[in-house]
Amino acid sequence: MMTTIESCGLRYVLASPAAISPPADFTDAHARQALSFHSTLPGYRPTSLVDLHQLASRWNIGNILVKNESSRFGLSAFKVLGGSYSVARMLCRRMGIEWEPVDFGTLKKELVRRQIGPLTLATATDGNHGRSVAWMAEQLGLDAVIYMPKGTVRSRVENIRRHGARVEVTDFNYDETVRLVWELANKNGWQVIQDTAWEGYTEIPLWVMQGYTTMSAEAIEQMAAVGMCPTHVFVQAGVGAFAAAMVANMANVFSESPPRFIVVEPTQAACMLASARAGDGRPRGVTGNLDTIMAGLACGEPSPLAWDILRKWCCCFIGCEDFVAANGMRILANPMGEDVAVEAGESGAVGIGLLDRLANHPDCSMLKKELELDSESTVLVFNTEGATDPVNYRDVVWYGKYNG
Ligand SMILES: Cc1ncc(COP(=O)(O)O)c(C=O)c1O
Repeated sequence: MMTTIESCGLRYVLASPAAISPPADFTDAHARQALSFHSTLPGYRPTSLVDLHQLASRWNIGNILVKNESSRFGLSAFKVLGGSYSVARMLCRRMGIEWEPVDFGTLKKELVRRQIGPLTLATATDGNHGRSVAWMAEQLGLDAVIYMPKGTVRSRVENIRRHGARVEVTDFNYDETVRLVWELANKNGWQVIQDTAWEGYTEIPLWVMQGYTTMSAEAIEQMAAVGMCPTHVFVQAGVGAFAAAMVANMANVFSESPPRFIVVEPTQAACMLASARAGDGRPRGVTGNLDTIMAGLACGEPSPLAWDILRKWCCCFIGCEDFVAANGMRILANPMGEDVAVEAGESGAVGIGLLDRLANHPDCSMLKKELELDSESTVLVFNTEGATDPVNYRDVVWYGKYNG
């Protein structure tokens, strides 16, 4: 059953995660392999885990932890973890190299030695994934063509062009753009590096998801270092690959006592929520313009690989209006007391925006209770991007745009 809390800009479905064994492709060992590859990339540093101590005390929540991806490889988003890892694995497969021992330096040398090329990588993107593919192509001297949906803001296009990729903005929404790239790639012999899966195309999206687990591996290590374990994890979803990767890896690592996993989406593109609402285990798409400020989450069709994990492990699916994300951006930009400021873009801030509603709005008290969110809880959220649309960032944080 779907419940709407109009005053808070939320709608949600509660689910009962089935108690089953954790997803096999996302063990600690898989995450260590991804982390070990990423640590050989130029500029690798773990991103910070920010403890918003004073905010937690103000909101009467035990701990609020933010894994802050706004500075990952200087690219303003976590996505490069998936793009780089999947491209590396794809190239090893093409060259017939065993995966285990490969580091970035070897990969680069082998590409030259075996005279691979010319090779063009192609993808569809709301922004961050395309930038990651373009960046990896640039690092390896490959070509990249990147297609973006209608309405894409200029800064996101320029951020990708800066890495030498050809960028085309289409007249289509995200999901239609994915299909267009697939057709063009088949005609032109391009290698598609897509973060969503479909029938017959699952290997690369799985590698993308495994690449993301560097982030959960780092976060788990950072929490362990201060003796913390999450009781609640908020994961935002576009096609669901990021959310499912975090959930799957943490379900493995915390298998004895898994945290509550809560999926967060923009109301206008809430395909996981629609799928949970249908209640028969099958993924559901939503169509239309998918018009939201959370550009990274503006995807109408779930990745079946991701949905299959989320449906089994998540206890709640929540759709949020844009102002919830905008509030999150303002809250993170204006810390309390000794807490540090976090630069969070629209898709990155929605988790904190939602936590604010749950912690502070009387109309959310039932849902808060259902989720057992209280002064004993340790909540982990992911700030998945920085100010990737700087104009909107200022409009929101300085001038109070999207104030619900
Ligand atoms: C900043 C940001 N956060 C979250 C997501 C969601 O990732 P996924 O599409 O894997 O659900 C994206 C996707 O592009 C993104 O750019």
